[in-house]
Amino acid sequence: MDDRPDAFPERIAIKPAIATIGEPDHLTKFDAILPTRKPPKPKVVMGEDPALSKMSDAPTLLEFFEKRIHPHTVNHLLQSATLALKSGAGEKDVLACLLHDIALGGLIGSDHGYWGAQLIEPYVDEEVAFAVRYHQALRFFPDASVGYEYPKSYIELFGEDYQPEPYIRADYDYARNHKWYGKARLITLNDLYAFDPDAKVDLQVFSDIIGRHFRQPKEGLGFDNSPVAHMWRTMIWPRNFL
Ligand SMILES: [Fe+2]
Ligand SMILES: [Fe+2]
Repeated sequence: MDDRPDAFPERIAIKPAIATIGEPDHLTKFDAILPTRKPPKPKVVMGEDPALSKMSDAPTLLEFFEKRIHPHTVNHLLQSATLALKSGAGEKDVLACLLHDIALGGLIGSDHGYWGAQLIEPYVDEEVAFAVRYHQALRFFPDASVGYEYPKSYIELFGEDYQPEPYIRADYDYARNHKWYGKARLITLNDLYAFDPDAKVDLQVFSDIIGRHFRQPKEGLGFDNSPVAHMWRTMIWPRNFL
């Protein structure tokens, strides 16, 4: 640690617990700012984060796509939604494909279907959130009647022997017998990476569908006092200390 007075011109970001647990620096990451540490001590990131694109005072869904969600995820979501659109799916189904992995690319991977559904629940029709929630479980279970096979990428990523957790199996069983099963299954059918990697799809293609089926709060996502506003704020300021 550099102890010169000007050693900390920038604020440091302390990674969230969920990003460091299991990592070597998990138990030492607070050392630089411990009360017992001699000055000078660094300031931590709070509020505007120079490492990230500044977001407007009333962020829209499209703004999150442009400034916060991982570009690979955005590409994947656009490809999925485009496939759905070309297959003649309804607008709400296309929207579900467009949103299905936003949590994975913007917030967290573990249980991303559940996080994603929660993020959008106040702003979309119930069936769209249902589809996003249950696509995660359905991905593990083939359905020959609609031509859905277990993904080869899952064998590569998780190994031949991987078995989903019991809660995933239980949620699959629940969704399988639900009236909206087809909605969640439709996401998995369009949830492909083996799409033209050079295909450039413009987010604006979907702005009308978003406009018709995503109830954007006028205060902006994160500032409408909804039960999930804090989740959007966490994506706006992901490196805030508190
Ligand atoms: Fe997913
Ligand atoms: Fe996906």
